[in-house]
Amino acid sequence: MSQRSRHQAQLSRHVSKRTGLPPEIRQHLIPLSRELWSKHKGYSGKASFFIEYHQNIINNLSTIQSQLTRSLDHSNQSGIQRLIHQTKQLLKSLDHHHKIEDQMYFPYFKQNNRNLINAVELLEKDHKSVEQKIHQLHKLLTKLELYLIKANKTYPFALMVQFFEAVQEFEKMIRRHLFDEEEIIIPIFILDKSF
Ligand SMILES: [Fe+2]
Ligand SMILES: [Fe+2]
Repeated sequence: MSQRSRHQAQLSRHVSKRTGLPPEIRQHLIPLSRELWSKHKGYSGKASFFIEYHQNIINNLSTIQSQLTRSLDHSNQSGIQRLIHQTKQLLKSLDHHHKIEDQMYFPYFKQNNRNLINAVELLEKDHKSVEQKIHQLHKLLTKLELYLIKANKTYPFALMVQFFEAVQEFEKMIRRHLFDEEEIIIPIFILDKSF
C-alpha cells in the first residue's frame, strides 16, 4: 500500500469521518449482538455502568445544545455563564472517563483479548482526537469568559454560534466513539468473569 492510500485509509477510520467500525475490525468482535446485552446475566455491573455513563454524556450534550439554541434565539446573556460551567463539567467528566479507560481497561483488554488489539488501538486513537477537541472547546470557552468579564453588554453572538457549532460537532464525534466503543468492550464486560 502506498503512503498516500495508507493515509487515506487512516483518514476514513477517523472518529469524525467514519460511519461505523471498519470491516477488518468488525470481523474480530465478540459475536454478541446489542439486543441481547441487557438480557444477559453478565450485564449488571461494569457493562450496564458503562452504557449508563455513555448515555448520560449524550443526554447532557443534547441538553447543552438545546439550551444554546434557546440562548441564540433570545440573545439572552444571563444564562451563558451557566452553559460554560455545564460544558466544562461535562468535558472534565469525559476526560476522566477516557483516562480510566486508557490506563485501566484498555491495557487489560489488549492483554486478554489478542484478537481485539486493533479494535482497542482504534479507540485509543479516538481518545486522542477527542482530547484535541476538548482542548479546542476549552479555548473557546475561555474566550467567551473573557468577553463576559469585560462586562460587555452586547450579546456575544458570533462566539455563541461558534460555541453551538463546536458542541454540535463534538456530539457527533462522541456519539460515534461511544457507540463503537460499546460494540467492542461491552461483550467483554458481559462475558469476562473478572468483571
Ligand atoms: Fe472511550
Ligand atoms: Fe467509554
